[in-house]
Amino acid sequence: TAARRKLVVGNWKMHGSLALCREAVPALATAGNAQVEIILCPPAPFLGEVARLAAGTALASGGQDVAELASGARTGEWSAGMLAELGCRYALVGHSERRQHHYENDALIAGKARACASAGITPIVCIGESLHERESGETRQVLCNQLDWLLTTPHWRNAIIAYEPLWAIGSNRPATPELAQETHAFIRAYLASCDPAAAQQLPLLYGGSVNAANAAGILAMPDIDGVLVGGASLQIQAMQAISATA
Ligand code: G3P
Repeated sequence: TAARRKLVVGNWKMHGSLALCREAVPALATAGNAQVEIILCPPAPFLGEVARLAAGTALASGGQDVAELASGARTGEWSAGMLAELGCRYALVGHSERRQHHYENDALIAGKARACASAGITPIVCIGESLHERESGETRQVLCNQLDWLLTTPHWRNAIIAYEPLWAIGSNRPATPELAQETHAFIRAYLASCDPAAAQQLPLLYGGSVNAANAAGILAMPDIDGVLVGGASLQIQAMQAISATA
């Protein structure tokens, strides 16, 4: 609906450099406006530099992950409070690459969303089905299972949900705007069965092979409140173009 602001989130994954931060941040700092918020999620070692460069601008930053604990003996991890201290307002949680390569499950991901809430960080919780699940008609069940864990925490109302079908990630095979819309409408209806008002205002993002050429069609859909951009987010012009169409 028109009331929800569009979000353009760039997930650099394990790419980029300090040089790219210094180029991208000033260029993206002026690309947002009252209708579009841009959120940059660089690798954790660059978050301090991005936060420093983005300070005082409308560009927001986020972590690509976060721990489920506030602090502790967790070598290699960082807490939501640490992200907040850097000025981050967001964190990706449960990205499919974390689920796949780091064996994250829905219970852990719900814990991470909860940890974000306690530190004032908005979690961007990623869900999505595999190609096999889509082809065998299990998409809705898979999404419900993933959402059910999140719904165990009341903080889901302040989360952002990103629908990223696995078959569309890095494949140059995005979901059609129609398929993405249909799935988003399903997700919103499922959330509405718990809390209609919260479901209505909760931002739902689409991710998977979004680029400057296809973003407009995707962003025009009524239940798509933004995009989570991987590969194309490394190109400053693509991010500017996507933000301009939002
Ligand atoms: O988080 C964004 C992502 O998984 C999509 O990646 O490269 O298909 O835009 P990409």
